[in-house]
Amino acid sequence: MADTAESFDAPVDAPAQPPHDSLAGPLPADHPSRRLSDSLYLQAARCEPTERVPVWFQRQAGRSLPEYRALRGPGSILDAIADPATAAEITLQPVRRYGVDAAVLFSDIVVPAAAVGFGIDVVPGVGPVVAEPLRSRIDLDRLPELDPEAHTSHVLETVRLLAAKLDVPLIGFAGAPFTVASYLVEGRPSRQHALTKAFMHTDPALWHDLMERLASIAVASMRSQVLVGASAVQLFDSWAGTLSPADYAAFVAPHSKRVFDELADLGVPRAHFGVGTGELLDQMAQVGADVVGVDWRVPLGAARQRVGPGVALQGNLDPVLCLAGWPTVRAAADRILAEGTGAPGYIFNLGHGVLPETDPSVLERLTDHVHAYQPAHASQHE
Ligand code: CP3
Repeated sequence: MADTAESFDAPVDAPAQPPHDSLAGPLPADHPSRRLSDSLYLQAARCEPTERVPVWFQRQAGRSLPEYRALRGPGSILDAIADPATAAEITLQPVRRYGVDAAVLFSDIVVPAAAVGFGIDVVPGVGPVVAEPLRSRIDLDRLPELDPEAHTSHVLETVRLLAAKLDVPLIGFAGAPFTVASYLVEGRPSRQHALTKAFMHTDPALWHDLMERLASIAVASMRSQVLVGASAVQLFDSWAGTLSPADYAAFVAPHSKRVFDELADLGVPRAHFGVGTGELLDQMAQVGADVVGVDWRVPLGAARQRVGPGVALQGNLDPVLCLAGWPTVRAAADRILAEGTGAPGYIFNLGHGVLPETDPSVLERLTDHVHAYQPAHASQHE
């Protein structure tokens, strides 16, 4: 067994063996992932049969919950994230209310870039906004390496608080290099990502340097979250689906692969998510993901073919359907459950985040409904 050093240095060429045959990584014996090893989420993420289907919702924390709005107050979400007691409570709220099988850390994908001083904020109702977007090599100086204990001690304190309280796995996360780069380059949320695509093709050397920097930041951030108590990680490449498979392969995949490689030794599941990624699912699995998120555009059976064996799937209810009333939600959920449970390794989720206008009672019913479903594979496979 590797030692339990608190070091953030990962062996770059970590062996490419399945990471969670045993939890033999550098995690201490009292790490929550050991106690929670037989939880539904962790079993499904290892592609083991489960007694019930695990369920959680992307963006379950915050958004539509009245108790979140009451606690959050006005101002930037970064202020709420900076207060560990508040961030831990917001993380717990959906676990309490819905009874979901995983908690997702209340933070944001732009937190590390903000913490190292790039100059980025999250404007309510808009999203991440950058005062001076990244345009040239000199702007890379505003993006130094992340020292998690120095730059994001508040995030680590939140994780520590949660590790002591949760009886379901905590999913830590980071923004993927491409999706974070898209915000730094565009300066604000964008539909076409025109500046980002032009950048990668006109100055590939600077693009790859930027992606390397962002990959290192994502690794440092997620390693630190796991070392202090997260039991899984998810890399959000929300906007990767805007790219052609060829551009994804040339400009993005090598960097996301490095992120996954440098987390392998921790022995916790590594999930990979994006929207509109139907044509990228094979690559998103191949870069080293243990779990791949699927949106509603791709049936789970087809997704399973694309990611190949040994990779768990997560998804894929269209979040908009949650606004259409319970009969619609139930019918869609039943179809998805039947497709998803065709093989072990399935986690129910939405195909993207909870919409702010969602009635929490729908997600409550949906959680119960998923839990009542009998997965066929539970008895068929061993
Ligand atoms: O369950 C959770 O919500 C966990 C915490 C979480 C947030 N952001 C908090 C948040 C997570 C996992 C994220 C990830 C994130 N942030 C992504 C990837 C996931 C995805 O949905 O694709 C992205 C692209 C961002 C960037 C970002 N932050 C956007 C686009 C927005 C929306 C702006 C808006 O107001 O509509 C944010 C703000 C944000 N981050 C909110 C929350 C709860 C909502 C606004 C608020 O309360 O201030």
